[in-house]
Amino acid sequence: MPSFPELRLRLRRLRQTPAVRTLLAETRVHPHDLLAPLFVVEGKGVRQEIKSLPGQHHFSVDRLAAEADALFKLGVPAVMLFGVPHSKDKTLDARNAWAKGGIVQRAVAELKKRVPGLLVFTDVCVCEYTTHGHCGIVQTVKVGSRVEKVIANDPTLKALASIAVSHADAGADWVAPSDMMDGRVAALRQALDASGHGGVGILSYAAKFASAFYGPFRDAAHSAPAFGDRKSHQMQAGNAREALAEMQADVDEGADMLMVKPGLPYLDIIRDAAGAFDCPIAAYNVSGEYSLAFALAAKGWGDADAIRDESLVALKRAGAKVIITYWAKSFALDFKQRGGLDRG
Ligand code: PBG
Repeated sequence: MPSFPELRLRLRRLRQTPAVRTLLAETRVHPHDLLAPLFVVEGKGVRQEIKSLPGQHHFSVDRLAAEADALFKLGVPAVMLFGVPHSKDKTLDARNAWAKGGIVQRAVAELKKRVPGLLVFTDVCVCEYTTHGHCGIVQTVKVGSRVEKVIANDPTLKALASIAVSHADAGADWVAPSDMMDGRVAALRQALDASGHGGVGILSYAAKFASAFYGPFRDAAHSAPAFGDRKSHQMQAGNAREALAEMQADVDEGADMLMVKPGLPYLDIIRDAAGAFDCPIAAYNVSGEYSLAFALAAKGWGDADAIRDESLVALKRAGAKVIITYWAKSFALDFKQRGGLDRG
């Protein structure tokens, strides 16, 4: 057995210079891979930075199109809208989530008019529209002698279907149910088809974990649950096999694209999904993954842009075709400044 100096294998030749690193890069991120989440609020002339999400803003409908247009011109093909309604519009039955003149419905119409080529996805959930902030309709049930509040699955499906149809009526290209109720993809597909929206796609938040990484988002969307948690519908962190079952169910019900969420703590699930299913896989690089980088940078312990690039390339390497990320604009701007060239 030859020892090292005789052994000819020197893998460092593969990374000696920027040019060789560029040539041999196995994974490249492009702005076309990215989908940008946008938060829309009531009011006029609002473009207010969200404290928990540095560099992200709450936009009123009239200010939203400029941001979406900038993203589109930078090569980001799609956005995902999240509605942040007035707290006075929150109810127990979430009815304002499917109101004709609701915040998301107006925002979709505005974007389809002002940035016609842009793909508009909408988040479909009731948590921003319920007084209690849960992702479903809450009912009280008797368990023995106790009275308990539960998130009722089947009554929620009707609400979700109404939301999806109202978004499609406004012009949404894709709807993305994020609630994790059983049977919601089938309910949405049926309702969309029945209302003439056979061309509207469903991106299902299929493997969505009950995660501590959603904190900054709940602050931004005012959707933290007022009591309890989301563990009766979102998945537990350790369950990879169950994640495949969740995704299979959504494929069977008619999902066009599957999402794994969060992204970075669940790279193995993304890899499993990419191997198991032929449909495109999306990864949601969630709020906590994003804001952590800024918290680190603020302490002087890291470079947020380098963390951005490493995060996005890791998600793509794991098998994500689409990356939903708050970094879409910042990455695309940087990409443009580099003339589309790698750093190497
Ligand atoms: C709503 C929803 C959440 C996120 C997307 N849609 C929050 C939650 O489930 O509590 C999280 C997104 C993020 O953290 O960036 N159901």
